[in-house]
Amino acid sequence: MRVATLGSHSSLQILHGLKMEGLETAVITEKSRESFYRQFGFIDHVLSYQEPDQAVDLLNSAGDVIVPHGSLIEHIGLAKASKLKDKSIFGTRNLFQWESNQKRKMNLLRSAKIKVPKEFESPDDVDRRVIVKLPGAKGGKGYFLAEGKEEVRKGLERLRSIGLIKDEKEVLIQEYIVGVPMYFQFFRSVIRNRVEITGMDIRYESNVDGLRRLGKVDGVNPTFVVVGNIPVVARESLLPEIMNYAESFTTVVDQIVGPRMIGPFCLETVVTDEMEIVSFEFSGRIVAGTNLYVYGSPYSWLYWNEPMSVGRRIGRELKEAQERGKLQEVLT
Ligand SMILES: Nc1ncnc2c1ncn2[C@@H]1O[C@H](COP(=O)(O)OP(=O)(O)O)[C@@H](O)[C@H]1O
Ligand SMILES: [Mg+2]
Repeated sequence: MRVATLGSHSSLQILHGLKMEGLETAVITEKSRESFYRQFGFIDHVLSYQEPDQAVDLLNSAGDVIVPHGSLIEHIGLAKASKLKDKSIFGTRNLFQWESNQKRKMNLLRSAKIKVPKEFESPDDVDRRVIVKLPGAKGGKGYFLAEGKEEVRKGLERLRSIGLIKDEKEVLIQEYIVGVPMYFQFFRSVIRNRVEITGMDIRYESNVDGLRRLGKVDGVNPTFVVVGNIPVVARESLLPEIMNYAESFTTVVDQIVGPRMIGPFCLETVVTDEMEIVSFEFSGRIVAGTNLYVYGSPYSWLYWNEPMSVGRRIGRELKEAQERGKLQEVLT
């Protein structure tokens, strides 16, 4: 079985892990990065493109299976992602649609009875500190914090004036949860019929994580551009609850999104001083925070007693699925 992914995000971890499980690997990358990927012995095929448009064709021809990650959809776009060969993605293809719409995304979390921040339909309803999110603004560019309805209105006006939005209906106005961010990473194994916690991280976000170095700063808007990831482990007493969240999330994806939740996903949360875990987003596939654990995490060790990155876990699932004649159950 030859497995391909796009050269970016978590591709090194994915391809390294697949190779550890004995699979044939291919990376699709833009020309300028070709020599970078060629230096790694665990990549069997490096295929490069000049025009972004060629990426889809290369992905289709290079692998029996494609592993999607955060950058894949961003690079090739949602419309083109639907052109990826049918039944070739390791993961839940239908989730791409849900993930591209923040309001729909939050509804899915609500359906899973996961605690989420309060959402405000209109700026007029805002009665507390909120974070305002733009559609499709990965990395948080353009997001802003506001202390009440007046500041929300002013912020939206500014976004309109610089052309970032046309209509205020486009944005998501969400209660800002004070606490610490924790991003919980999971793997839903269809073959072993279980949800595993594979790791946790904290996104290192610029400039919000830099502001605390300066104490109180006036006139600087916090921004949330991810530039790295920091490892973390949670108090063990948080684990049963977060595992309940994860299991209920997979059940809801099985029922509402279909055909089933397959492989890695992440619940992005803030944990408050009341030990409440409030989820403001999810990712329906591998997140870059798993790159911390190429050699396995404190959690994956508990299941495997061997180094198990999420990339390798994907390889293990593919191998076990193939051995049992169930490959189609982990592909969409
Ligand atoms: N409701 C919230 N309360 C507190 N912080 C938040 C909230 N929503 C988002 N954040 C912060 O903003 C960042 C970006 O928000 P997110 O919804 O994950 O957008 P995206 O990942 O699409 O850029 C998060 O990683 C987190 O640091
Ligand atoms: Mg996010």
